[in-house]
Amino acid sequence: MISRRNRNRAGQLTFHLITIFPEISASYWRYGVTGRAARRGLVQIKVHNLRDYSLDGKRNDDRPYGGGPGMVLRAKPIVRAVEKLKRQARGQKCKVIILSPAGKQFTNKEAARWAKHCDQLILVAGRYEGIDARVRRMIPGAEEVSIGPYVLSGGELPAMVIIDAVARRIPGVLGDEQSLEEKRSASHEVYTRPEIITHRGRRYRVPQVLLSGHQARINDWKLNQKSRKH
Ligand code: ADE
Repeated sequence: MISRRNRNRAGQLTFHLITIFPEISASYWRYGVTGRAARRGLVQIKVHNLRDYSLDGKRNDDRPYGGGPGMVLRAKPIVRAVEKLKRQARGQKCKVIILSPAGKQFTNKEAARWAKHCDQLILVAGRYEGIDARVRRMIPGAEEVSIGPYVLSGGELPAMVIIDAVARRIPGVLGDEQSLEEKRSASHEVYTRPEIITHRGRRYRVPQVLLSGHQARINDWKLNQKSRKH
């Protein structure tokens, strides 16, 4: 654990994404909450090409020992990349996350914890059949994390999901009102204009309470919505 005191100069959280496809996420960060947070200096998102860490022009992937389909990402380039980033972080609190469908389920609880206690989050995205299993043991404290019980084609999307969810938890990234709202009722229904939509002969209305202007009743309605869903 580490205190805020040790946060890097701007008080921001730096996300590092290590991937063999660095272009995949590039435009995503420019938009919405992460874009605004980056422009305001609250987060930094740095994407690193794993290919830059393979020595002697060796490939990043190789066939799995014991046979089987597909290729496996080799350990050394990944470890080299992570160690370099950790060295550069100089005393800041770094967390290393290896994305894997077999990892521990990611939830909002981890998002809040990492946003609070980490200065640098290093995310390693696997591809193909996965990452050499020794990587987790070679990097002290590295944790395997899954975003859900399904298998995706690589760790880039999961890493982006985690970065987005963690960034939202950094103080100042969401406006006060927005973050309070998120805490109170992340899952109530939302409506916008028009008040009534007519579609295939049926009328779809906005719940009357939301049009009442009675804030206490509206808040109650939102809370009730939430408890019905869980
Ligand atoms: N890589 C492939 N599927 C994944 C998942 N569900 N979570 C994290 N990393 C993954």
